[in-house]
Amino acid sequence: MPRPRSNSNPAFSRPSGGKKSKPKGDYRARQPAHEYELEALPGLEQVVATELAAVPLARDVRGLRFWYPGSPERLTRLRSAVAAYRIKTWDVPRPRGLLGHQQLGELTAFVGEVAEQGGHRSFRLGAAGKESAVMQRLAEELSTALGLTHDPEEGELLLRLRPSADGQGWDVLARITRRPLSARVWRECNMGGGLNATIAYAMHKLAGQRDEDRIFNPMCGSGTLLIERALLGPYDAMVGVDIAADAVACARTNLKAAGRDVEVAQVDALHTELPPRSFDLVITDLPWGDAIGSHQSNEVLYPAFLKEMNRLTSRRGRLCVLTHELRLFERVMGQQSDWDAKELFQVYSGGHHPKAYLLHKRA
Ligand SMILES: C[S@@+](CC[C@H](N)C(=O)[O-])C[C@H]1O[C@@H](n2cnc3c(N)ncnc32)[C@H](O)[C@@H]1O
Repeated sequence: MPRPRSNSNPAFSRPSGGKKSKPKGDYRARQPAHEYELEALPGLEQVVATELAAVPLARDVRGLRFWYPGSPERLTRLRSAVAAYRIKTWDVPRPRGLLGHQQLGELTAFVGEVAEQGGHRSFRLGAAGKESAVMQRLAEELSTALGLTHDPEEGELLLRLRPSADGQGWDVLARITRRPLSARVWRECNMGGGLNATIAYAMHKLAGQRDEDRIFNPMCGSGTLLIERALLGPYDAMVGVDIAADAVACARTNLKAAGRDVEVAQVDALHTELPPRSFDLVITDLPWGDAIGSHQSNEVLYPAFLKEMNRLTSRRGRLCVLTHELRLFERVMGQQSDWDAKELFQVYSGGHHPKAYLLHKRA
């Protein structure tokens, strides 16, 4: 079993966030502000709002909608949002109104700008009734005016249409990136049961991000929690284990793609033979018993896991757990006296609604 390795990556020798390049000249005067909206997994809106609050120049923020005069590239670096969209509202009672001469001209300019900035060559519509004659006509008009291919399945630029929140018009949202932001570029290896990266980011942020943490990610699977933490900034040491050889290989592939050097070993998380109090933060998404593991094996795994992690965690250490086995987890928590738990969030993702908990050792 490898010891947790100190973080010697030179990329971490300066505070998280890295070097900020100064905008040249009067940045604000050179770029018109546009309106944007971020998409969050239901349950993670607050985490996304907190990350948005740190975006310089974002203003007139209403929930996850805001005005922003800076480069859209800055928004593509948000880690908690599923996607970022340019948004514009038209004062029309129904989508047919977008085919009016003036509205169509404005819509074409709007979509054209996003397509040019994002380098999109094709588009698709995401709207209720996108097969309707009006939507098809809109798609034809945009395709002709902009020279973009309308590809209903694989179109690179996703255009969503929806009634505006005040019921007075229609919103058009144009996703600024070809893929969702949650589909990380480092994910070269995909695994069934792989964690959505925005959830991994949220877990780390809410469990606390400390430079001196020695971090353990048991049951690391494809390495999502390891990589999202490594990309956040400094830590003292980090190690991941998984019992399955293919998961370990998958995590290593993704870590390499992310350019991060983190030790991952094929070891049973319950039998690491590491000394007591080796870690300050243990963070994991336990098997949920559907895609990975079984409900029956979880009956044994969950209590054994809590006990062993108590041994491995330092006196003031934290254990952050995501699980969909809510009844089992809460029952097991009620039967033990090692940990105090608080719920961090419940998130809706891929048909599941797991909860994240933060546990502290009882004194
Ligand atoms: C829900 S998946 C983790 C997914 C991972 N976070 C990701 O993003 O890919 C759970 C993982 O726990 C591993 N596992 C189950 N029991 C284990 C044990 N006793 N020790 C180590 N790993 C275990 C499985 O092999 C599986 O990869």
